[in-house]
Amino acid sequence: MFLNKSMIKTLQQIEIQKQGGIILGKGLSAVMAAAKPGVSTLALDDIFVTTVRSLGGEPAFLGYKGYPKSICTSINDEVVHGIPGKRRLKEGDLFSLDGGLRYKGLCTDMARTMGIGKISASAQKLLSVTQTALALGVAVAKAGNTIGDIGFAIKNYVEKNGFSVVRSLVGHGIGTEVHEEPQVPNFGKKGQGKTLTAGMVLAIEPMVNIGQFQVNFSQDGWTITTKDGTLSAHFEDTIAITKKDPQILTKLAL
Ligand code: MF3
Ligand code: CO
Repeated sequence: MFLNKSMIKTLQQIEIQKQGGIILGKGLSAVMAAAKPGVSTLALDDIFVTTVRSLGGEPAFLGYKGYPKSICTSINDEVVHGIPGKRRLKEGDLFSLDGGLRYKGLCTDMARTMGIGKISASAQKLLSVTQTALALGVAVAKAGNTIGDIGFAIKNYVEKNGFSVVRSLVGHGIGTEVHEEPQVPNFGKKGQGKTLTAGMVLAIEPMVNIGQFQVNFSQDGWTITTKDGTLSAHFEDTIAITKKDPQILTKLAL
């Protein structure tokens, strides 16, 4: 059978990803509602799995390249890919969660960062800058613009605010696989890179550090931390390029 591995998805495929994106958003929303001091990241992983399975979805990260859990839980200086376990959230933590979902054979990918209880003013600023950076990247994800336009919009805004974007991890196309072509870096030059066309579905995901952009890859083979120990935040949405405005497929909803 012919499998459509093309970067261009059909309207039917995008409609399925939109339905999946709603299930994923419900899964992440349930995790966010439960993310309180004293809760273990493993308990949050369970909440995600239970929620999305009850809605007909399947966690896409579970078993992906050997990944052992269904969400990534990255705290404070952890950038991404923290593995849920016994660690419990505590007051003042900066908590990033990232989830992937497979629904009717197609994937969506989404991440949010939140404060646990009261967080510092600098952590609060990091949250808002990273969320706005994602919004600015999405805003230029239009047919006729390029991949470089997305990265430029993100990096330019982040650096104007005195923070840095992680270079060694990038956004990506997404469809039958979690990671597909093209790569979507959070840095770039206006007008450079592949031209965006209607039907591309992209996961745009700025990872922003308060300090330097360099990261460490930890012993567990997954967790990525900032090299200088400063806080990091991560926001990600799956979007479809259309002939008009970009369509955000992943939505938070309880
Ligand atoms: N959202 C993550 C990314 O795009 C996917 C992590 S897959 C996992 O890099 F299996 F490693 F969790
Ligand atoms: Co991703």
